[in-house]
Amino acid sequence: MALRPNSAAARDVAYTLHPFTDLVAHEKIGPLVITRGKGVRVWDEDGKEYIESVAGLWSAALGFDNERLVQAATNQMRKLPFYHAFNAKSHEPLIELSEMLIERAPVPMARVIFANSGSEANDTAIKMAWYYNNALGRPAKKKVIGRIKGYHGITLAAASITGLPNNHRSFDLPLPGFVHTMTPHHYHEAMNGETEEGFATRCASELEKLILAEGPETVAAMWAEPIMGAGGVILPPRGYFEKIQAVLRKYEILLVADEVICGFGRTGHYWGTQTLGLQPDIITSA
Ligand SMILES: Cc1ncc(COP(=O)(O)O)c(C=O)c1O
Repeated sequence: MALRPNSAAARDVAYTLHPFTDLVAHEKIGPLVITRGKGVRVWDEDGKEYIESVAGLWSAALGFDNERLVQAATNQMRKLPFYHAFNAKSHEPLIELSEMLIERAPVPMARVIFANSGSEANDTAIKMAWYYNNALGRPAKKKVIGRIKGYHGITLAAASITGLPNNHRSFDLPLPGFVHTMTPHHYHEAMNGETEEGFATRCASELEKLILAEGPETVAAMWAEPIMGAGGVILPPRGYFEKIQAVLRKYEILLVADEVICGFGRTGHYWGTQTLGLQPDIITSA
């Protein structure tokens, strides 16, 4: 069906480039234009109603018309619409949120650093891991381990930790120094008769083999979503994180928990880290 000239859809096709989209098909079909939201529902430009079961990009967990958020944003826009944290500048919302996050951290955490998205949070955490090893005089300890089917974002480094072929193909990714270990998906990956515990042991042993092949002195950190989201909503097998963390500790490799879609109460606890028993060194959230 041809797009109506001058419609929002036709203007979108003329002017916008969309991530995660088949751009050839998009030129013919055009976008789904969403015009408003309320609670868990959104409406398109033709008035058709949808239950938004992914909460946007997993991010509208408080609903699409949360009045407290509207008020808080309005009040802050009136008082101080923007300020930054460079060169020792600060402001009240930044201090209050830092304090709140440290108080609610699932394991003792020292400080909060802010970014503008989950992807940028992961890129920033890579920089922190590299900075940490430089400060300790271990300049070679820089490689990052992700997991096949893991998803960590669209910026260059976050897409490199990601383990999804579509995020790498045609983009010259992953960047050098980013490697991937197996998906902890018992249902798809276990061998005949392999128990969850046995499969978790194999995941840990594969991780150790990868670390030894790369050289432990070159590996800085491993990234893990407590529950893998974009890769298929994959729960790890029983005992997985305990076994993985024992390997990481042995080789002084940091564990970074990507809580971008598990954090803030989405798994029954405040953090997915608590639900799945992680002891991360760094947490990224959004
Ligand atoms: C686990 C995880 N990490 C990172 C990201 C990237 O976050 P953003 O889209 O805010 O850059 C996502 C996005 O869905 C995610 O699911």
